[in-house]
Amino acid sequence: MSHQFTTDNSQLLSDIMRLRRDVRGNHFLPKPVDNSILDKLLDAALYAPSVGYSQPWQFVVIRSEKIKQQVQQSFLQANTAGQALFTGDKNVQYSKLKLEGILEAPVNLAVFYQNPSTPVLGQTSMPDMGRFSVVCAIQNLWLMARSLNIGVGWVSIIDPNAVKQILNAPKESELIGYLCIGYVDEFLDEPELKTAGWEQQKVKSEVVFNESF
Ligand SMILES: Cc1cc2nc3c(=O)[nH]c(=O)nc-3n(C[C@H](O)[C@H](O)[C@H](O)COP(=O)(O)O)c2cc1C
Repeated sequence: MSHQFTTDNSQLLSDIMRLRRDVRGNHFLPKPVDNSILDKLLDAALYAPSVGYSQPWQFVVIRSEKIKQQVQQSFLQANTAGQALFTGDKNVQYSKLKLEGILEAPVNLAVFYQNPSTPVLGQTSMPDMGRFSVVCAIQNLWLMARSLNIGVGWVSIIDPNAVKQILNAPKESELIGYLCIGYVDEFLDEPELKTAGWEQQKVKSEVVFNESF
């Protein structure tokens, strides 16, 4: 018989999901992350489902200060451009947000999608399915990290092509996520952007529909 989980197991998983946070540079500690721990995170990523079992993910582990600094330059440029798209109070609020932890996190992880050269089962009508598979791997890693009390922050305010160039990525590799990983001083109880009043939490009835919209 297949493995049966208990109600306690299920509650534990729910707690890990609920207490997972996006962590920025204001919360990372300089404490090193051992390779054995990093391996656990990568193993979790590799358990993820993928369209046609294509496993289209690639991971680049970055500990080099020089590389981190290059990526952070890309963030700074992208962030200035991003902030300019918000006006009035939102622009002021944006300027106060810490939106990455590239230099503060001991480990950075660039996660790529390897564009296939032949058709992939299940991806023939919806070409983004491979990319979504990579996101599943990132979410697995994020939850495993939380279970080990390690913080993860996703940085998307960067030029993906600049990161590709910095990391010498092959042509067919596409950046999906750039993650900052490390121990933290605390995990906040709720999303920082909720606390800051940037966005409000949506309730279930706003987003769940029965039978049709
Ligand atoms: C695809 C993706 C991209 C994100 N990019 C950024 C980012 O560039 N900078 C940032 O501070 N947070 C980023 N986040 C984190 C979100 O802001 C965060 O998940 C959200 O505010 C909810 O907070 P929580 O993850 O702590 O629950 C990203 C999250 C996702 C899923």
